[in-house]
Amino acid sequence: MSDDDEKVGGSGFSRRDFLKVGGISLATPLVLGHRVVKAAGADVKVFGPGKAPIELMINGKKMTASVEPRVTLLEALRHELDITGAKRVCDRATCGACTVIVDGNPVYSCTVLAIEAQGKTITTVEGLMTGDKLHPVQQAFVDNDAQQCGFCTPGFVVACKAFLDKNPNPTPEQVKRGLGGNLCRCGTYMGVRAAVQQAASVQNPEQKGGRRNG
Ligand code: FES
Ligand code: FES
Repeated sequence: MSDDDEKVGGSGFSRRDFLKVGGISLATPLVLGHRVVKAAGADVKVFGPGKAPIELMINGKKMTASVEPRVTLLEALRHELDITGAKRVCDRATCGACTVIVDGNPVYSCTVLAIEAQGKTITTVEGLMTGDKLHPVQQAFVDNDAQQCGFCTPGFVVACKAFLDKNPNPTPEQVKRGLGGNLCRCGTYMGVRAAVQQAASVQNPEQKGGRRNG
């Protein structure tokens, strides 16, 4: 099999098929929504460059928007849906200020296309409270003074929540490593780590005094 015939990313399409699809796309008028083109005998949906309707499940609610396929989840949240907790800082997968939870995993929403996030469960910092009650992680940030300017805080809170969901009784070393994807220019790391330990104790009281302190 030549390089050109190699399957791309397990998709079942070869590089040559993708080139064919690209060629068809360029020759097709630009319209709202998607087009369907034939590639290797299969129908393939092609979106853009115009806007396409999308539906996202965010904090337990279905939300709709119309965005160009190049629009990131972060941009869709902030500019189309008025959900502004996730912050844009680096916009290149470095700082973690834009962290949201997608299907249980923390992700940098500046690196995910909104159109790709369809069909997934998305949680932002706005979705953590229950009524007027702060989530234990949010309360722990307040109690441990784990913010200064606060710009990194929503991303940190979401990352901590996702981390504790998978590591309910973490050691200090695990906390340090687990939150390595988020940066704080104000240097609130000690407060953040203390907040994670407090939230772990609140959410998992039977583990209090366990290996966290080891
Ligand atoms: S804004 Fe997404 S990682 Fe920095
Ligand atoms: S509190 Fe200012 S960047 Fe973290």
